[in-house]
Amino acid sequence: MFKKLRSEFNTVFEKDPAARSRIEVLLAYPGLHAILFHRVSHWFYHHKLVLIARLISHFGRFMTGIEIHPGAMIGERFFIDHGMGVVIGETSEIGDDVLLYQGVTLGGTGIEKGKRHPTIRNNVVVGAGAKVLGAITIGDNVRIGAGSVVVRDVPDNTTVVGVPARAVFEQGKRVTPLDVLDHGQLPDPEVEIVKILVDRIHRLEERVNKIKEVKEVKDVDDIKEMKESEEMLRCFMDGAGI
Ligand SMILES: CC(C)(COP(=O)(O)OP(=O)(O)OC[C@H]1O[C@@H](n2cnc3c(N)ncnc32)[C@H](O)[C@@H]1OP(=O)(O)O)[C@@H](O)C(=O)NCCC(=O)NCCS
Repeated sequence: MFKKLRSEFNTVFEKDPAARSRIEVLLAYPGLHAILFHRVSHWFYHHKLVLIARLISHFGRFMTGIEIHPGAMIGERFFIDHGMGVVIGETSEIGDDVLLYQGVTLGGTGIEKGKRHPTIRNNVVVGAGAKVLGAITIGDNVRIGAGSVVVRDVPDNTTVVGVPARAVFEQGKRVTPLDVLDHGQLPDPEVEIVKILVDRIHRLEERVNKIKEVKEVKDVDDIKEMKESEEMLRCFMDGAGI
């Protein structure tokens, strides 16, 4: 734990050009204090002392304005710059060398239990005020623009911005509207529709299976919608002679 904390202390100098002296970083960096509180609260959480863990985390939030649930798993050299208003949910998983700015939320999208917060892989930057929602995966070396709302997986080496977030750089290459209108590679609309329908059925099937697992059929409309989609797909494929 102390090795991790030392590397986090050094990381501040790498990631914040405003950091000047070691004593300043030690005394006046809430992002560093928050991770210190988290490492301790996570230890208690891991040892099933949940109330103590929650109290330490709560005190940390009071001191820093940063709320990290003790259950969140955070890798090495993690840094939160400025910090105020950051919220990190219970089932979040964060890799190494991740940088968050103030106002970032790694949150859930509903009241479901189980894994419901994002997985952030290595070397990711999440800009100020960005919201990353749901059990999605943010790949290695991703950059998320300030104020973005991310609700879908983001592949490695991508920069996303906006609400909902869209890619502006992929594998170091700028994504422009002209890419979409590349006349040499115009999309086949029929194939696209079939792909959308198949994808929709797949997602609905996954949701139905999850509902079955907890033996609570909360939303029978999902099943109805899945059957309707299956029906639509069948009619479409019959009509298109596929
Ligand atoms: C996302 C980000 C990393 C991209 O930086 P970049 O690689 O230099 O990219 P660019 O500035 O060339 O922007 C590329 C495109 O995305 C748009 N864009 C960039 N950041 C955006 C944002 N936060 N929201 C919406 N659009 C954004 C730009 O307008 C540009 O659009 P265009 O292609 O239509 O011209 C950066 O803009 C960002 O938001 N960083 C977070 C920084 C932060 O939170 N700082 C807080 C300090 S306290």
